[in-house]
Amino acid sequence: MSRTTMSGKAMQTSGGQDIRGVPVSYSDTDAIEGLERATEMALAFRGDAIAEIDRLLERHPDFAMAWIFKAAWLTQAMETRIYDQMVAAVQEAEKHSAHANERERGHLAALQAWIHGDFFGAVQRWEEVLTSYPMDLLALMLVHYTDVLLGDVVGQRDVVARIFNIWDEGVPGYEFVLGFYAFGLEENRDFGRAEEMGRRALAIRPDNPYAVHAVAHVMEMRGRQVGGIRFMADYVDRWGTSNFANHLWWHTALFHLDIEETDRVFEIYDAHLSSDDEHGDKYEELDAVALLWRLDLLGADAGDRWSHLADKWEPAAQNTLYAFNDVHAMMAFAADDRVDAQKALLMANERYVEEASDANAAMSREIGIPFCLAIQDYKKERYRECVDRLLPIRYRTHRLGGSFAQRDIIGWTLLEAALRAQRFDLALGLANERVEMKPTSAQNWRAVARAFEGLGNSGKAGRAEARAQFLTAA
Ligand SMILES: [Fe+2]
Repeated sequence: MSRTTMSGKAMQTSGGQDIRGVPVSYSDTDAIEGLERATEMALAFRGDAIAEIDRLLERHPDFAMAWIFKAAWLTQAMETRIYDQMVAAVQEAEKHSAHANERERGHLAALQAWIHGDFFGAVQRWEEVLTSYPMDLLALMLVHYTDVLLGDVVGQRDVVARIFNIWDEGVPGYEFVLGFYAFGLEENRDFGRAEEMGRRALAIRPDNPYAVHAVAHVMEMRGRQVGGIRFMADYVDRWGTSNFANHLWWHTALFHLDIEETDRVFEIYDAHLSSDDEHGDKYEELDAVALLWRLDLLGADAGDRWSHLADKWEPAAQNTLYAFNDVHAMMAFAADDRVDAQKALLMANERYVEEASDANAAMSREIGIPFCLAIQDYKKERYRECVDRLLPIRYRTHRLGGSFAQRDIIGWTLLEAALRAQRFDLALGLANERVEMKPTSAQNWRAVARAFEGLGNSGKAGRAEARAQFLTAA
């Protein structure tokens, strides 16, 4: 049986294997094609992959791999409210796994590790599956995304490198492999190859938000703000209606922020990052906080936006599952001065690190809680304390997960706190680090200027300020 995928390729499935020749123990063509559709929806950030797999499971309730897909995709949400649904899907997969093949048993073992809090163990199981079945796009996706969640920067690249030359343009889904590789290369600062891979992915399939995302990251890290704005606009028809639109608008806003187009940043925030859905996606709320906090560091008045956003975060205050979410929740609570919510979040975290032994507990203990406390210090204008908390952890923050661009909020907060604490020698060092990394950022040069000014060197302060003005001149 054949059909055409969204990318226009002919798709061939047969009972017992998928379109990439990966074995499936449930040899029903309708079931295997349905699973492929859900996988493609997840990869292309289109539609609702869970709803698609639920429809499939109504027709094929014994299809273990469909239950596995459902649980696996839910792992990536990192939200407590989804946890029960994920565990139930794993239990269904176990119930229907009597005839599961080796690959499917590997996926199931990964999920069993995950629901016991052993996220690193889950990655190991998925990697084993991928080693045996290099065409298993689902396993590749799960390892890559989980490496992003857990802050395994090298793994984000190397999991793709491991299988890269086994794949080629003739294998359905190659554009997604290129997208993963582009992002992994970018996070490991191999910007040229990253952009090439990202653009190759887009040449195959322009409707590929993850590849747009990887190229956006390259431009962000290289400080190509004007080019970045243009690139995002060129592709907005392709990504603007995808499930990744929120995060890609966040990236677009970062380009504008870097060249001090604050009004445009607020416009993007209001139009694309401020949903009224009280059960919004945590990633969506995370991007919103991450943008408002940056505006806050610049001294911009956010009006009642913090209050609206803190309302959305408050139900999550006591349900810690992912340190990266928690620090963003703390930003919203501290910025809106919600004392009880801050206490509840910290108490939940402290209770959690005492009781839990999962991967997130270590992230919370080493990075999450110190950063949460530093955020409180910052908003209470205890800038020295804020600096003292952030300085020891600044080079280990990748353990928190996310991207370099996302975690930059920590370094920027540290720098602003150092300036406000009048620790100008430290501030100069931190600002110097940032201009070396991104010399086209006006914000970075203004920080250098403020530090020199504080040190009484108005000559060098003027030179840095002139650089900032040059960068923002139309
Ligand atoms: Fe990103």
